[in-house]
Amino acid sequence: VTSDPRVPANWPAPGPEALACSQRLVDRVLERLAVQRFLPFDDYMHEVLYAPGLGYYAGGSTKLGAAGDFVTAPEVSPLFGQSLAVQIARTLSACGSGAEVVEFGAGSGALAAAVLVELARRECLPAAYVIVEISPDLQARQRERLAALPDALARLVSWRATPPGPGLRGVILANEVLDAMAVARFVIAPEQGARRVLEEGVEAVPGAGACAPGEVGEWNATPGSRLQLSIQPARPWVRDAVARLEADLGRRLPPGYRSELAPRREAWLATVAECLEAGLMLLVDYGLAAPEYYAPDREDGTLLCHYRHRAHADALFLPGLQDITAWVDFSAVARQAVSSGLRVAGFTTQAGFLVGNEIDALAAEAFDAAQGEAERVLLSGALRRLLLPGEMGERFRVMALTRGDAGAPGGFDRPDLRHSLQGAGLEKG
Ligand SMILES: C[S@@+](CC[C@H](N)C(=O)[O-])C[C@H]1O[C@@H](n2cnc3c(N)ncnc32)[C@H](O)[C@@H]1O
Repeated sequence: VTSDPRVPANWPAPGPEALACSQRLVDRVLERLAVQRFLPFDDYMHEVLYAPGLGYYAGGSTKLGAAGDFVTAPEVSPLFGQSLAVQIARTLSACGSGAEVVEFGAGSGALAAAVLVELARRECLPAAYVIVEISPDLQARQRERLAALPDALARLVSWRATPPGPGLRGVILANEVLDAMAVARFVIAPEQGARRVLEEGVEAVPGAGACAPGEVGEWNATPGSRLQLSIQPARPWVRDAVARLEADLGRRLPPGYRSELAPRREAWLATVAECLEAGLMLLVDYGLAAPEYYAPDREDGTLLCHYRHRAHADALFLPGLQDITAWVDFSAVARQAVSSGLRVAGFTTQAGFLVGNEIDALAAEAFDAAQGEAERVLLSGALRRLLLPGEMGERFRVMALTRGDAGAPGGFDRPDLRHSLQGAGLEKG
């Protein structure tokens, strides 16, 4: 139970140190607001997730797993990574000697560990396993975890904070990385013309000042903060992006409609695509093709915050201590991929991909090797979580982007959802 009025009474309270970090982060945002009055939502979200030392991913909070805020597929079971490794092994073989794996945003290191162990079992280890991790805190945890692998695997792993240069042959992996990139939020107004598209951002609550060093909070009556959301006419690029989106959808979005745009994902993909000389990029995330993402009944977008396994919509809640995510518009990802010269070789559900990549056989082996009933119960729970439509099986999608002749990736035909990406420019791919 907490006495901090910003934390609902039945939610776990952050410790004083964490609260002080959150306050320093709010001070940082207020400093920017003293100069520019309004911070577009994407700038705010990037700041509270990635500000050095203070942002959610750049600071020291637990984040992943039972003691953190959310659970990802690699945390659910190594079967996820083992099944991905089935496809990774095919691509590595097709790319020949020297082929590498590059994983972006490796979280706790669980996916890297599962993939490497399975690749070793299949005698198909890469020449290197490179982790691109912008969070120093997560990088430290990954180093600790992967140091426990057998030497022959651990020494393949290296870290960097930025994407590698061009010339990569092999596989690029990103599980739940795109959803962690900051999004802009637009709102459709009833007006016509330049004021029809608005965008959301953050302002200072009038009278809110920076906290004195060491001062732990005077909270204002609205649980939340010294920050508040506000709406302004959209920047020109947001207006243009909404116009293009509506042209692709073939319909106008109705007044009151609010959703997201994710230019940072497109910029990231353009940069990462340049690294890949030949091989496969596997993107796994929760998301939809544009017609469903921007469906008329999804009138409030897909933004979601996670704090200690509670999902809610308040992006101003304890900045730096909660994750903020948005679903991925896979049509936008596909369009960017095609314009970066990649081929959209597959798009399916997580369940479809895992079943098409031997998860049944891998699970059967794990059941045989399990020590006792309790372990078997855990295994079947994990399988349900990864595969069932109401769990991660359908909400999560897998996209395969390829360059060169590394063979067609497997596990994308049941169901093949590429037709749903229509309008993404695939006909050019
Ligand atoms: C939701 S976590 C997912 C972690 C892990 N992939 C998993 O599935 O458990 C998002 C990760 O993406 C990382 N990330 C976000 N933007 C990134 C970027 N531009 N380059 C590399 N990593 C990034 C974060 O630091 C974090 O490790």
